[in-house]
Amino acid sequence: MTLTIHRVASLEGELRAPSDKSLTHRSYMFAGLASGPSRVTHPLRGEDCESTLRCMGQLGLQHEWLSETEVLLTPAARWSQPTEPLDCGNSGTTMRLLSGLLASRELDCTLIGDASLSKRPMKRIGTPLRSMGATFEGDTPPVRILGGNLKGIVYDSPVASAQIKSCCLLAGLGAEGDTIVREPSLSRDHTERMLLAMGASVVRGVLEDGRSTSGISPTDALSPFEFSVPADISSAAFFIVAAAILPQARLVLRDLSVNPTRTGIFDVLEQCRVPFDLGEERSELGEPVADAVVGWARDPLPFEISGPLVPRLIDEIPVMAVLATQCLGTSIIRDARELRVKESDRIELVANGLRAMGATVETFEDGMAISGPTALSGATIDAHGDHRIAMAFAIAGLIAEGTTTITGADAIATSYPNFESDLMRLTIV
Ligand code: S3P
Repeated sequence: MTLTIHRVASLEGELRAPSDKSLTHRSYMFAGLASGPSRVTHPLRGEDCESTLRCMGQLGLQHEWLSETEVLLTPAARWSQPTEPLDCGNSGTTMRLLSGLLASRELDCTLIGDASLSKRPMKRIGTPLRSMGATFEGDTPPVRILGGNLKGIVYDSPVASAQIKSCCLLAGLGAEGDTIVREPSLSRDHTERMLLAMGASVVRGVLEDGRSTSGISPTDALSPFEFSVPADISSAAFFIVAAAILPQARLVLRDLSVNPTRTGIFDVLEQCRVPFDLGEERSELGEPVADAVVGWARDPLPFEISGPLVPRLIDEIPVMAVLATQCLGTSIIRDARELRVKESDRIELVANGLRAMGATVETFEDGMAISGPTALSGATIDAHGDHRIAMAFAIAGLIAEGTTTITGADAIATSYPNFESDLMRLTIV
């Protein structure tokens, strides 16, 4: 599918962004661990989360749609041996978290994925799972896991990755003894918050050298839950940047997940002096939720993203790069090597695409420098199967002279099925 974007005058309106992808994945997986049925309202119906629901179904989780937006999830007394490989589609979260859950179960499972996922590194979870006692084969998908008889470990993760951390903690739930993960800085902590809310014993801290630790004790007594999934800040990010760069724009965001491990985008808006306001917080299963307002910045200042800020906005970096093209000076993104092993090599694709639109971009192994402000011009951009690349360049197209054509835009359905209609509704021609 091709998405054609023309320059617009502004943006105005209210957005309830699609529900959070990370939280939807976890709600489906963790419902399979509970002692009774759980109820999830507004789960994300994007392809990644549907992959998780299908895999969990193969393992025995039953689901019943009570309405279009509410699903009842009934766990099996014992997880069943799947007869077919578990297809994780495009979703790294499905493969890595599910691997953790399978590692303590006496099952023999093969996990497969699409062309993009089949290139992504799995050794990063194979290493800790093997040292806990599981058999794990495959440095890239397909992977095979023969689980059972795990012992808890202290794992020093070389990267701040919630997928690695969650994989280890989930394996730890079924191990003998506690499992502790130490990471260079805190990655998103949804697993810790949700398991705590379900009654698990989770201990968290910060070491003297600044590393972050999360520990879990084994248990098979987790409570079922009712969870209304808030809106995904990583999806809202596309429209947040659109509001920041379109003259006179004003965007109201509803029900936004504002977990502090995910709100790095607001730190960047502050650096750029983009006006925004965060409303009062409420809580959903230990997750903070709020409304927000974002407006246009006439002359945004350049920003720097590095260190502990990186995991707090890792998925937003492609669209942050679009914002950088409009900032007065050079914006720097560093310590973001992980971008090279996401759904695509996001450093290369962002830099090449922005250059094709006229921007000045220098790349590094772990990031890029973007000098602005630049008047962008339309170009044809291939999304390379990466939903966030497709959406980031659609936003760039809103301020570009001429036509921007995104090929392979069907990838957007991975996380944001209604992206195009939200774009049409909120923009002013
Ligand atoms: C996710 C964690 C992040 C993020 C991904 C979702 C999660 O990956 O990029 O889209 O739900 O745990 P890493 O933790 O590997 O950086």
